[in-house]
Amino acid sequence: MSRVIYIHPNGERSEADVADGQNLMMAATGHDIEGIVGDCGGVMSCATCHVIVEAPFGEQLPPPSETETQMLDYTAAPREPGSRLSCQIVMNAALDGIVVRIANPQL
Ligand code: FES
Repeated sequence: MSRVIYIHPNGERSEADVADGQNLMMAATGHDIEGIVGDCGGVMSCATCHVIVEAPFGEQLPPPSETETQMLDYTAAPREPGSRLSCQIVMNAALDGIVVRIANPQL
């Protein structure tokens, strides 16, 4: 288990302990963390799981795939340098303490 910190648009924080191998979209919906929709279930066809990864964790993630990069052009909120699809961020021990801002809006 590793800790994920979600920052809501109003600045409030939610924290969740997430098992290695679980993605941050599923972790958020499983912990009733509002603001991450995940309409497509994680198959990269909705872009409603948009988060902005805070430094320094963004550099520790694998680069986005071509499909993820394309979907990030269709997010409801403007794309930022740290923007990622949370369904594509897979938890591992090296990401313990990762901080992600929940994009707003998602739809
Ligand atoms: S859940 Fe649909 S793109 Fe991530």
